[in-house]
Amino acid sequence: MHILTICYLFASVTFILGLKMLSHPATARKGNLLAAAGMGIAIAGTIFLYRNENGAPLGNYEWIFGGLIIGGIIGTVVAKKVKMTAMPEMVSMFNGMGGACAALISLVEYNHLQHLIAAGESIEGMSGTVLVIVLGLIIGSISFSGSMIAWGKLNGTIKDYSFAGQNIVNIILLLATLLLGAWVVIQHGEGNLLYVIFAAALLYGVMFVMPIGGADMPVVISLLNSFTGVAAAFGGFLYDNKVMLTGGILVGAAGTLLTVLMCKAMNRSLKNVLIGSFGGAHAAASTTEGVQGSYKEISLSDAAMVMGYANKVMIVPGYGLAVAQAQHACHELEKVLVDKGVEVKYAIHPVAGRMPGHMNVLLAEADVPYEKLLEMDDANEEFKTTDVVLILGANDVVNPAAKTDPASPIYGMPILEVESAKTVIVNKRSMKPGYAGIENGLFFQPKTSMLFGDAKKVLQELVSEIKSA
Ligand code: TAP
Repeated sequence: MHILTICYLFASVTFILGLKMLSHPATARKGNLLAAAGMGIAIAGTIFLYRNENGAPLGNYEWIFGGLIIGGIIGTVVAKKVKMTAMPEMVSMFNGMGGACAALISLVEYNHLQHLIAAGESIEGMSGTVLVIVLGLIIGSISFSGSMIAWGKLNGTIKDYSFAGQNIVNIILLLATLLLGAWVVIQHGEGNLLYVIFAAALLYGVMFVMPIGGADMPVVISLLNSFTGVAAAFGGFLYDNKVMLTGGILVGAAGTLLTVLMCKAMNRSLKNVLIGSFGGAHAAASTTEGVQGSYKEISLSDAAMVMGYANKVMIVPGYGLAVAQAQHACHELEKVLVDKGVEVKYAIHPVAGRMPGHMNVLLAEADVPYEKLLEMDDANEEFKTTDVVLILGANDVVNPAAKTDPASPIYGMPILEVESAKTVIVNKRSMKPGYAGIENGLFFQPKTSMLFGDAKKVLQELVSEIKSA
């Protein structure tokens, strides 16, 4: 077997093992490194060991190394500087680059084909190659432009935009793009129609993501991620490159699974995410109705006392904890309470925060032991025997409207049922709503007390209160 084939086989195995290891916080970091090392070997093997049918090496080394160095520096700097809360943005940008690469591969190979045809080569038997080129181009381009819009929306530079009948226009645009693609395949790739398909697919990517509400963006990013994987797999077909094929298929499959899991966690269908507007017009309407009443506040010293004398405290982390970077202070509070003989656990909602696994990653950063983190169903059981629930910057994931108000945009989303506990303390800075833009009736219930302030500051003060008590 050729050494390069062994490199590819090795890399493919590292991708599979890496993915498996990513599924648990304890092994995720190593899994990522392992897969990255495999990718490094596949890239180095291709650069140094590849020989074409005439035995010639790859060539174009100045371009390859130029790209590697510039891309490597940009990627490293961006990844080092990114804040945890801006991670979905970065993933979206990187994913878009993958889609663009797949689309460019299709364009380059199409040009190559045109040269062969111009040189008098027979077009018989080229349809398969053209089909792969066309599919790679359409999927890669949609992924690129869609991801760029998702990136802009997440960093606030692009606002949601939709018009009446947009879904119909989108479907027509997609069908037209696919029909044009079919035509190019039937024509064995002759003519310049591919550039029209390129433009149409780019436009479709923009139109498809533009109307989707901000809170649904991670689902869309995950879906686009799977598109990029499939487009890369088509690139693997074109170049008969096994590792590109395996990598692409794995990304495609993992992205699809993640998309399905996220939809399940929010109890929504993918169709509903893609053509229904969550956090958009609906949400704005429902903020004005329904939840009213008065809320009560609790002082720091009272909150410290209630928790200090409790048997069991459950902490519900949310997006606000990540914004405040209060994970270390939170772990500190947990330790102080445990020292006082209080049992402390964390209730983790699958879509708390702004990306899948956000809370797990955040708490792992502060060395909170994994066995203290309870998944939603287990947590909902434990609340029944809990004295105090401390909610830290979470809002939508504890909103009872998801169970009780069919008009609410989050109706049907499984939530952490914190009301089953004896007392609920909510820490946030104001009465402002969370991501879905809706009021939260929990804050007005008799067993709930509000503890206003930045999560980090409040937690630090709670720690010193409890220590000095
Ligand atoms: P949210 O509902 O967004 O609520 C976060 C709360 O944190 C806000 O109400 C905010 O209130 C508070 N907050 C902000 N900064 C704070 C600070 N420095 N200190 C203390 N509190 C602070 O968060 P959640 O409950 O975690 O729910 C997540 C939401 O995002 C869900 O709607 C989910 O569907 C959506 N979403 C999830 C994902 C994934 S995959 N995880 C991705 C995108 C969207 P104040 O402004 O009053 O402080």
